[in-house]
Amino acid sequence: MWTDRELHELELLTVTRLVGLKHTAPAPIATPAAENVVVAPPPAAPAVPVPSAPAMPSADCASLGWQALREVVRDCRRCRLGESRKQAVFGVGAESAPWLFVGEGPGAEEDAQGEPFVGPAGKLLDGMLAAIKLARGKDAYITNVVKCRPPGNRVPQADEAAACAGYLDRQIELLKPRLIVALGKTAALRLTGEEGSLASQRGRRFTYRGVPLVVTYHPAYLLRNLPDKAKAWEDLLFARRVFSEPVAVVQAQLS
Ligand code: URA
Repeated sequence: MWTDRELHELELLTVTRLVGLKHTAPAPIATPAAENVVVAPPPAAPAVPVPSAPAMPSADCASLGWQALREVVRDCRRCRLGESRKQAVFGVGAESAPWLFVGEGPGAEEDAQGEPFVGPAGKLLDGMLAAIKLARGKDAYITNVVKCRPPGNRVPQADEAAACAGYLDRQIELLKPRLIVALGKTAALRLTGEEGSLASQRGRRFTYRGVPLVVTYHPAYLLRNLPDKAKAWEDLLFARRVFSEPVAVVQAQLS
């Protein structure tokens, strides 16, 4: 867990890099952060109840361990995406990682390599992780709402997300993360159950199956909308604060 001072220093050191600004002079610790930083409000709001996810294959997966689940996903033909993919993209990271990042679905490079977020959006995601002292394969597990590439990188359809729902749910049960970060609208909709805009969901503390959940922009969106990187940084600070909540607070909000 970070001290307040460490949090503040990290904020000052990394914000200019993340928002793509030139850092001309070292900022003194006591001064307010760079002008592009908008510090997220403290996570005072109560947890937002989330409707349970579509249950389609959950029962099939409920008793599977990591290896068996990986094999079921590898061979899955539950929806049309199984016909057009090169390979299913299960997820990457330590199976005890405390942070879980959930994207939308594999793109062309992920489909070819079998690992999530390896293209340009993945590079940005790695930068975002580094900004809060995380690394893929170590403290962060990364996966997607759908495990197979939608043709032409289109948004997954509702029945495709539903067909994959049990896989993501079982990954969450096995991983037992301390925090889930939904990357973009598809993941936010799948995990919050809310149809609203991403803007209306940012800065709120949801829970999904008992796990604290926050949302932020998808890295691919940020590559097309560079000014919103500052908002993503704000979301990461908020995520880190939710992550640092004492366990007792989380339990109290769930009971
Ligand atoms: N976009 C996603 O949502 N997931 C990936 O794995 C790659 C790009």
